Amino acid sequence: MNLKDCHNVEDFRKLAKKKLPSPIFHYIDGGSDDEITLRRNTDSFNNYDLIPNVLTGVSNVDLSTTVLGQKIDFPLFLSATAMHRLYHHEGERATAKAAEKMNTMFGISTMSNTSIEEIGALTNGPKLFQLYIHKDKGLTNNLIERCKKSGFKSMCLTVDAVVAGNRERDHRTGFSPPPRLTLESLLSFVLHPEWSLNYLFRKKFELANIIHMTNKGSSIDKSVMNYMNEQFETKMSWADAEYCVKKWGGPFALKGVMSVEDAKKAIDIGCTAIIISNHGGRQLDGSRTPFDQLAEIVDAVGDKIEVILDGGVKRGTHVLKALALGAKACSFGKGYLFALGAAGQKGVENLLLKMKAEINRDMILMGCKSIKELNRSKVVLRKK
Ligand code: LAC
Repeated sequence: MNLKDCHNVEDFRKLAKKKLPSPIFHYIDGGSDDEITLRRNTDSFNNYDLIPNVLTGVSNVDLSTTVLGQKIDFPLFLSATAMHRLYHHEGERATAKAAEKMNTMFGISTMSNTSIEEIGALTNGPKLFQLYIHKDKGLTNNLIERCKKSGFKSMCLTVDAVVAGNRERDHRTGFSPPPRLTLESLLSFVLHPEWSLNYLFRKKFELANIIHMTNKGSSIDKSVMNYMNEQFETKMSWADAEYCVKKWGGPFALKGVMSVEDAKKAIDIGCTAIIISNHGGRQLDGSRTPFDQLAEIVDAVGDKIEVILDGGVKRGTHVLKALALGAKACSFGKGYLFALGAAGQKGVENLLLKMKAEINRDMILMGCKSIKELNRSKVVLRKK
């Protein structure tokens, strides 16, 4: 199997599984506890059916939209995810270049392996920075200032990860970044020599944004779960979020909002957007899926704040269903990380091309010329 055999997210997942040592693959692929929420994130799109209109004379479709103040060519962007150097030796640079080429937005994490400055210099394309509030308060101000200086136009604060979810796959595989050689993992690294050689001899793994600020700068010595539990600010509050919104002063999203109540509070503290998300099913297992929560949140706040749907997106029709229920755009994480692991920049570019083509084809089949035409008349809840 190689890149030309990849036609959809699931194919990229299979190729990533082949290319990556198993602790790395399972770190992306996995969720928390029994992975019920992880599975439902995608399944929930089947709770609604699309209703097309025919003979509408559509040939050219306008897929463009604006999210967090940035124009993108189609309504699907790359969620900010951590540590891309684990998946490909070019790390976030590969993701950034693929997103720029396709003119969609991507995000880098506080825990990225490429620095804010390097990404700022690399691309003027749509991008956002994703904040994790660490216990070290000085770090938050430092990150915000650096993003301003480096030309980032929007920011999001992740609010669903004040402690780490219970990722049992990582316990079983012994995953830690940088990867540790254990008896269990050794075979997996030996069986993936291309990845292992690139890992050993290319740019060193480091948490590039925080290397100078914490003693955890270059590595996460035990596990990601340990890192999150030791370093992240568990007591983070609405006042802290409001502080970040004000300090940033530009388009700002809260990522991980799941209730109507919290969506309203996000408006009160001055957010531009909320990203409905359960962190890819990696945090609170048994929590509702973003897609199942979408209509209720849009009904309550959709005219006052941008609502972005994140979680489980694998198909163009998933994006259409979310937009028909009122989402401004969708984002995905796992899907493009599989593509990054499978084939680096080329992989991500290829996946984005396919997703854009799929959204475009689905729009024509729906009889819609522009994503503005996607509304509640185009979807219906399946009767159980
Ligand atoms: C995770 C964190 C790092 O989901 O976002 O692993």
